[in-house]
Amino acid sequence: MILRIFPTAGDTARELIQLLLDRISRIPEDRPVNIALSGGSTPALMFRIWAEEFDTATPWEHIHFFWVDERCVPPEDSQSNYGMTKRAMLDKVAIPDENIHRIQGENEPKEEAQRYTELVASRLPKKEGFPVFDFVLLGAGDDGHTSSIFPGGEHLLHSSEAYAVSEHPVTGQQRIALTGQPIIHSDSVIFLLTGSSKNEVLKWLYQKNGEGPAAYVAHNARHNIEIFTDRAAAGQELK
Ligand code: 6PG
Repeated sequence: MILRIFPTAGDTARELIQLLLDRISRIPEDRPVNIALSGGSTPALMFRIWAEEFDTATPWEHIHFFWVDERCVPPEDSQSNYGMTKRAMLDKVAIPDENIHRIQGENEPKEEAQRYTELVASRLPKKEGFPVFDFVLLGAGDDGHTSSIFPGGEHLLHSSEAYAVSEHPVTGQQRIALTGQPIIHSDSVIFLLTGSSKNEVLKWLYQKNGEGPAAYVAHNARHNIEIFTDRAAAGQELK
């Protein structure tokens, strides 16, 4: 596990974008770079910075965006992960429409999970039967969830389907989530955790038997995972 701590959330976002661009530049141009994006509130700053400061440095035609998870709402809804990413970044840069592969949160959830599983399977290379993303960017919640795999929904860590329907344990909102195995089989798993509310979950990621789905993923990933974080999230113990 590689922990990278930067002074502020903005610095953390910039360093993560730069790391992605460096690694993307080493991937042959004749094949797409497949990136699965998370939603929630944390990555919004990174997406804004990407559009505002790294637009011209980014080979947009080379990059294909997929989503780690989506709330089962239409794209215009303020809860939509795709909608957030579109407003913060996609609308402002010259990425071809055909490189954006959103989860259609407005569709019937089970059918959409299956459609998206098939879409991803048709576009990505496979390892041990699972699609392999070049990069999976994850967040984590203070209850230890990642993707939309919540405590109580741990069976999704072992699902044979790449995407499945899950339910938020408090609000009951339905979600479509990338499941555990494709996350741990991906070439690179990177957590972005900023702000003091991530203090506890960051500790769980670090502990050997840390609680929750995020810790499971962190300890079982095939390749060393990286955690990009700021001082506020790292707290005293890890600084
Ligand atoms: C979502 C996510 C989710 C997110 C965490 C952290 O749809 O909510 O993709 O997995 O990464 O819940 O969310 P915050 O950044 O809002 O704390």
